[in-house]
Amino acid sequence: MARVLIVVGSRRKGNSYNLANILNNSFANSRISSDIITPGNQKIYLCTGCMDCDKNGVCDFKDDMEENINLVNNAEVIIFITPTRWNTLSGDLKIFMDRLNPLYSTKGLKDKKIISLVIGSKKRDEYSLDGAMTSITSFIEGCDAKLIYKAYFDECLDFEDILKQGEHVDKVVKDIIKILE
Ligand SMILES: Cc1cc2nc3c(=O)[nH]c(=O)nc-3n(C[C@H](O)[C@H](O)[C@H](O)COP(=O)(O)O)c2cc1C
Repeated sequence: MARVLIVVGSRRKGNSYNLANILNNSFANSRISSDIITPGNQKIYLCTGCMDCDKNGVCDFKDDMEENINLVNNAEVIIFITPTRWNTLSGDLKIFMDRLNPLYSTKGLKDKKIISLVIGSKKRDEYSLDGAMTSITSFIEGCDAKLIYKAYFDECLDFEDILKQGEHVDKVVKDIIKILE
């Protein structure tokens, strides 16, 4: 099982996808094992809020979240990559987080190391990306996990805009590898 699980919050082959692949390839070069999942492209039912999982730590739905929860349990570090959408995290990532509720009652995310990477089209000083970051850090607080690193990529609108920020991407990748080694 991989040490790092990269969760991509956008289903298009855009900036989050590109960043996830750069990280994955750089990890492989540094002999750090990683998996990538894109919940938006998987079969994941919406949480109905039935709360059955609070009783036994298991969701009644049979879908891709069964394997995702195995991957989460086995990962030492989870990297969330989200596009900013309306000043918050993507809906795909929120749906994924809601379906992690079976791990709430079992405290399965307690002390899990989390890295949060936020992408958006606006400039960093326009607040918008902070809203996305805050929504992820609030999730982290809610499940008692640990934020070990965070980074922002602003002014990314088109699919490959993030690739124009090579220096910043390189720095973030190096920072993360340093933390993981
Ligand atoms: C519905 C929607 C809402 C968005 N809202 C914001 C926003 O509030 N702030 C921002 O900076 N960018 C916003 N964007 C732009 C995306 O964050 C940006 O295009 C990002 O690079 C998309 O990442 P992706 O290529 O990984 O999908 C929005 C995009 C969409 C589709």
